[in-house]
Amino acid sequence: MKDIESRADLETLTRKFYNRLLADDSINFIFTDIAKINLEEHLPIITDFWELSMFHTGNYKNNPMHIHMELNDKKQLTSAQFDTWLQHFNATTDELFAGINADKIKTRALSIATIMKIKVSAI
Ligand code: HEM
Repeated sequence: MKDIESRADLETLTRKFYNRLLADDSINFIFTDIAKINLEEHLPIITDFWELSMFHTGNYKNNPMHIHMELNDKKQLTSAQFDTWLQHFNATTDELFAGINADKIKTRALSIATIMKIKVSAI
């Protein structure tokens, strides 16, 4: 199995990850009913975020902590939802990739999710 090596790999990962999130009724309503995301606009932004995080390149300039705090003001996020988010992220990564970068992206997701969970005081 190959490792994550390029933006194209991150595009594959984020699309499959969102397919899983949007198929899960315990979490999908936050994307569809609360934030009302447009998937085709949202995915390149998520890819930008991971490109910056993994390869220090790309155009990501937003503050994801702030965005999730605003989201949390609309609908309180729960610890269980963060666990579900992480499970889908890890499962998608493992399904597609293996190697140093695959391990790194899972560790990074866990770190950011942990900080986010504390910042929004997830119940
Ligand atoms: C309970 C867990 C989570 C839920 C329900 C969730 C949900 C969402 C939603 C609905 C948006 C769109 C917000 C908007 O455009 O108004 C969003 C954006 C985003 N999320 Fe999450 N998220 C979760 C955890 C995470 C974690 C742990 C990370 C990072 C590791 C993350 C990274 C991002 C990024 C990068 C964006 C794009 C922000 C931007 O527009 O610049 N999310 N999330």
